[in-house]
Amino acid sequence: MHIKKQTKIGIFDSGLGGLTVLKSLSRKFRNQHSYIYFGDTAHLPYGDKSKDSIIKYSKKIIDFFLKKKVEIIIIACNSASSVALKDLQSIYKEVTIIGMIEPSVEYIVNHTNLESISIIGTETTIKSNSYVKAFSSYNYNLYSLACPLFVPLVEEGWENSDIALKVAKKYLSKFNNKKLDGLLLACTH
Ligand code: DGL
Repeated sequence: MHIKKQTKIGIFDSGLGGLTVLKSLSRKFRNQHSYIYFGDTAHLPYGDKSKDSIIKYSKKIIDFFLKKKVEIIIIACNSASSVALKDLQSIYKEVTIIGMIEPSVEYIVNHTNLESISIIGTETTIKSNSYVKAFSSYNYNLYSLACPLFVPLVEEGWENSDIALKVAKKYLSKFNNKKLDGLLLACTH
């Protein structure tokens, strides 16, 4: 996708996780574009909310972005990308809306040589099967696991703590008997 210079890009997530996406974009494009970041901490987490609630919150944010004359919107939240992207794209045809799932899958397919991948994300992302569906035309062994405790750990700023390490070890031990060569962090946190 070609993006013209000085495009105004709106990025949103339910909280701080999507800042990783903002960081990567500003590193890649330097000061070629301008960004507005919206972290919807009032409704965090999205990962245990219904599809209807996630669409309702996302619409409020998109309306705000449109008032700010944003030209491209990035949903830097896997939960919202999983359950709301298609509806939002059909409601807001006047603006380009990009989610996390297709680009991540495209990257893995084109730039890696993996066979077995475990996908970890929120309850919403994992239950929606969005990644499994996106991978369905390719030949991968996929395992999925919801890891809801990662979100509060990051929002508390505890991502580098002993507790975070213990939680990660406990979750990942569920894959102990699997032969895996890739772990897909399907959550911006
Ligand atoms: N940023 C969300 C995601 O990528 C995780 C936080 C949440 O559950 O709202 O799924």
